[in-house]
Amino acid sequence: MERELALEFVRVTEAAAMAAGRLLGRGDKSAADQAAVDAMRAMLDTVDIRGTVVIGEGEMDEAPMLYIGETVGSGHGEPVDIAVDPLEGTNLVAKGLPGALAVMAVAPPGCLLHAPDMYMEKIVSGPAGRGRLDLTRPIGENLEALAEALGKPVAELTVVVLERERHAQLIADIRRAGARVRLISDGDVAPAVATGQPASGIDLVVGTGGAPEGVIAAAGVKCLGGEMQARLAPQDDEDRRRMAAMGIHDPDRVLGLEDLVRGDDVLYVATAITDCYGLPGVRYGSHGVVTHTVVMRSLTGTIRYIVAEHREARGRRARREG
Ligand code: FBP
Repeated sequence: MERELALEFVRVTEAAAMAAGRLLGRGDKSAADQAAVDAMRAMLDTVDIRGTVVIGEGEMDEAPMLYIGETVGSGHGEPVDIAVDPLEGTNLVAKGLPGALAVMAVAPPGCLLHAPDMYMEKIVSGPAGRGRLDLTRPIGENLEALAEALGKPVAELTVVVLERERHAQLIADIRRAGARVRLISDGDVAPAVATGQPASGIDLVVGTGGAPEGVIAAAGVKCLGGEMQARLAPQDDEDRRRMAAMGIHDPDRVLGLEDLVRGDDVLYVATAITDCYGLPGVRYGSHGVVTHTVVMRSLTGTIRYIVAEHREARGRRARREG
């Protein structure tokens, strides 16, 4: 993919983050999500791509915009597949809590797993975990293997887990192994990607969350050279039908990073809506709006942090004047 596209997509996640950020703490997650979707959808059409949404807001009959299979972009330029989450962490924005992102992944056609909206078991670490983690092994063994690779005791590992009833045993096992646990209420994409950024202090993310979020996180993990394994976690016959439609017939099949994001050419772009693992959330000042975005390109391994000041009145005038 052309490298210039990376900066074009920064505008897309910035627009979604600014729109959702305005609804911070209003207790209305649907309104915040809708604002992010509208803004992302509008900005996507200014980018010179022939894009297809492969992970989005739902099936065509469920979502009016950014539905799976929808074509986006100006219709000129190269074909790409796009995975979007205009508001990752709807509850976090509704409650004004940290950890919410506007995020997307972009890759050549066929390179992103078309994960349906169902659960996925995940285990994610930075580069030290490559070849050492194994989703099928007990968590205690994975913690020991990662600690050894990182050259520190298990007691100094920090593990992020979504606080859910389904994780009660997992959390107990991590605590028994002696690692530090950080429970989060929502939003497992950002911490998964943060495992590849040593300054975040997060060593491992483990547990069951959304499958679409898993693929988006995998794009960031790939850019950072990290490790990720996943397994779809069907809850009913409808989920099993969706898995079969993807060609996954073995419910125990472990998906590696290459199954989630194929090849070496993927972009991961995320703008913080609320403060998010080192990225400050959207700030509204008297001169305009300030956003913080990270954009990564796996082909070169480049990671850019972009602080943008948006002079909104001028932006609107420029768009009107064409
Ligand atoms: P939304 O942004 O759609 O609300 O999802 C956030 C999220 O917390 C994801 O980060 C996570 O993968 C998933 O939901 C967990 O699902 P559940 O809340 O059903 O446990």
